[in-house]
Amino acid sequence: MPPLANIDGKLLPLSEVKVSVLDRGFLFGDAIYEVLRVYRGRPWLEDDHFARLARSLAEVRITGVDLARLRRRMAETIAAGDFREATVYIQVTRGVAPRAHAFPPDTPPTEILWVSEFDDPYAEARQSGAAVALYPDIRWDRCDIKSTNLLGNVLAMQAAKEAGGVEAVLYLPDGTLLEGSHSSFFGVRDGVVRTAPNAPAILPGCTRGFVLGLAAKLGLRVEERALRRDELGRVQELFLTGTTTEVLPVVRVDQQVIGGGKPGPVTRRLQEAYDDAVRNWHGAPASGVT
Ligand SMILES: Cc1ncc(COP(=O)(O)O)c(C=O)c1O
Repeated sequence: MPPLANIDGKLLPLSEVKVSVLDRGFLFGDAIYEVLRVYRGRPWLEDDHFARLARSLAEVRITGVDLARLRRRMAETIAAGDFREATVYIQVTRGVAPRAHAFPPDTPPTEILWVSEFDDPYAEARQSGAAVALYPDIRWDRCDIKSTNLLGNVLAMQAAKEAGGVEAVLYLPDGTLLEGSHSSFFGVRDGVVRTAPNAPAILPGCTRGFVLGLAAKLGLRVEERALRRDELGRVQELFLTGTTTEVLPVVRVDQQVIGGGKPGPVTRRLQEAYDDAVRNWHGAPASGVT
């Protein structure tokens, strides 16, 4: 099944969707987006993703989006293609208008979503552990907004890929380790699960929030305090979280081997708890886990 798009309520193959070059998403990256994972036909953490979408829209002052309608369109598109294991990409731009920096008056936003089959690229790395590469964070000061301005993330990820990593981990000049180019970053040091606190410098990951909840349920000690580069020699475990990443053990950072090169026990417990949560949610009522 090729990706199926929904634009203004019309279903069509993604390859047939056309957007104007005057769309502000194209010209300015004046747009926000979301990505959801669909398991066995149902979107996971739907409420969380739509809450973040609403927040992103409010922060960039894009108005006039009917979120209930967007949710219905998403459900209709998943059902129309009978998608089982899939991702949904949703993007809302400030619309089409003559090119000028300031907001155009009375321009309706462009709302588009598409659903694609998901062929899990992380299946093996989730077992054996992955390598990541450090990269300086050259992004802007509002990384808490899920905007399509992703050039800093793109350059970081390309550098990581060229170095043989599955992800780039972004750091500040003082050595603070913030997050991945498209995932959240966690470590375990002396029995404490550590991750950067939610702040304008990172995206409030939906998976991050869910995994923090799992850690609390498992009785793990958790501290929302960023790791630093100079602590990497003293961490026992590292892992990434994200919508398609799920919980992914990290066993190497650049040339530095972490945890003897093997996924650690805390990461394993969280992976199992995550898998269980997805499995159990399928027996639960349609409102989901969140
Ligand atoms: C910069 C960044 N951080 C974290 C995440 C993880 O967020 P989520 O768990 O909601 O997928 C993403 C997801 O794309 C991201 O782009």
